[in-house]
Amino acid sequence: MSEFLIAPSILSADFARLGDDVAAVMDAGADVVHFDVMDNHYVPNLTIGPMVCKALKKHLDARGIAAPIDVHLMVSPVDRLIGEFAEAGATYITFHPEASDHIDRSLQLIKSYGCKAGLVFNPATPLHYLDYVMDKLDVILLMSVNPGFGGQSFIPATLDKLRQARARIDASGYDIRLEIDGGVKVDNIAEIAAAGADMFVAGSAIFSQPDYKAVIDQMRAELAR
Ligand code: DX5
Ligand code: ZN
Repeated sequence: MSEFLIAPSILSADFARLGDDVAAVMDAGADVVHFDVMDNHYVPNLTIGPMVCKALKKHLDARGIAAPIDVHLMVSPVDRLIGEFAEAGATYITFHPEASDHIDRSLQLIKSYGCKAGLVFNPATPLHYLDYVMDKLDVILLMSVNPGFGGQSFIPATLDKLRQARARIDASGYDIRLEIDGGVKVDNIAEIAAAGADMFVAGSAIFSQPDYKAVIDQMRAELAR
């Protein structure tokens, strides 16, 4: 198993002082910036786009923080935004297969920009979308809440789905991250890791606390158990 990555979802950060808040969470020991893009079409919420990603990347670079940015696209259509996010500094770009007319083409487009590519599965989306694209994936993201909002509760059925996804990754022989997003907290992260996840998005659990380092340290302690 590869090292665990903790990816704070900046959806729960303070948008009025986004650069400083994200810098603070990275300084507190997080590994990856999880950047949630919602379009009020594929999901019933509206967030931030490539301009904010670019400004945030510039801010982090200026502070000497070399954080990978994990762009989670909850948008339809998908392809038009891929190049813009790649140029705005994205490291990972993931999208929901139902939102793309041509899944293989969207994955190839992400890779053509040198970014890491991934598919995102809603709680009730079957894993069969993986069938013919494992060789093009760097990450598989399982949603453990319905996408659109932070602060929801982890859907327990996702644990079994994680085990299935982990088995598929291991059987494939490819080096693919298994990311989990939604309702991840200190008190369930160990169980989620045991089910196979190795990349953990957490928004409200981290940003609701005054001491980001304390929460991230607690999560790492749980992961080390
Ligand atoms: C939901 C987003 C998540 C969300 C997670 O659609 O994709 O990244 O911000 O927030 P928490 O950790 O609060 O469930
Ligand atoms: Zn997300």
